[in-house]
Amino acid sequence: MSTLCTVSFPGTPYPALWLDGQQNLSEHLTMQNSPVLFGCRTGICGTCLVEVEGDIPAPKPDEREMLDLLAPNQAKARLACQLILTGDIKIRRWTE
Ligand code: FES
Repeated sequence: MSTLCTVSFPGTPYPALWLDGQQNLSEHLTMQNSPVLFGCRTGICGTCLVEVEGDIPAPKPDEREMLDLLAPNQAKARLACQLILTGDIKIRRWTE
């Protein structure tokens, strides 16, 4: 049985989404329902860099490598296209 996870976008007019756990976030976010922009959706372009608060698994080595290039030493930086939902999260567009 999967749990329902809340994905919210603080500071934006986008309403929170409730999604089943263990889903890949990029399959559910669109230009219409979130402020997150996507490009490749495979973890190589960096377009979807976001700040994430919440309980999600640590980045896998490929994502880690990209994050080290795009936002070194930023614990909350993640690639939205690589996120698997395991709990409630808050997402903000990355701002330098
Ligand atoms: S959309 Fe390209 S890295 Fe996520």
